[in-house]
Amino acid sequence: MPTIVVLATSNAGKLSEIQRIVGNSEVEFVPQSQLKVPDAIEDGLSFVENAIIKARNACHHTNLPAIADDSGLEVAALRGAPGIYSSRYADGAGDLANNEKLLQVMEGRHDRAARFVCVMVYMHHAEDPTPLISYGFWEGQVANRPAGENGFGYDPLFYVPELNCHSAELDSAVKNRVSHRAKALANLKAQLEQHKILT
Ligand code: IMP
Repeated sequence: MPTIVVLATSNAGKLSEIQRIVGNSEVEFVPQSQLKVPDAIEDGLSFVENAIIKARNACHHTNLPAIADDSGLEVAALRGAPGIYSSRYADGAGDLANNEKLLQVMEGRHDRAARFVCVMVYMHHAEDPTPLISYGFWEGQVANRPAGENGFGYDPLFYVPELNCHSAELDSAVKNRVSHRAKALANLKAQLEQHKILT
């Protein structure tokens, strides 16, 4: 019998990525929407707090182990903003408005260093005092103008020096190999293996 692990996300893209990188015949990942888990209130002040809140909420409502993630864009010159508020930087007006606001705030700034951050958390149960926590970073810069049609969020404005293009110009297969999420997932997989949760 495979171990069932709840995924505290309803994003189909993330589900299949987690399945592909971490999945094997011993674990069955079930999205929390299938188990009628209500959304958690993400009122943490860091990525890691929010990921733990989401994983704990999924464990609490299912009595099963859970994996949750939280991610966003940190801009060095803005002391890490938009950070945990990345998805609602322009007060919930959507990706385009978020990108426009970021461009406006960065106008005239020379230090344009930025990074995408992803935190993944695994919890055995809701009271687990030692959640497994992994980080993934993807270093880049806030470009002066958007480019590319792929991806979502800040991908059009995220310039990746190592690939000399914007994240939204990358094929999804390439992005899934190099992104913050890919790195966090690879690290979580290693931790799950080390703790014999995955073999
Ligand atoms: P989530 O918590 O993973 O849903 O991400 C929060 C927000 O961070 C998203 O709504 C995007 O604005 C931003 N973000 C996270 N990952 C990416 C990415 O890979 N590309 C572009 N934007 C991202």
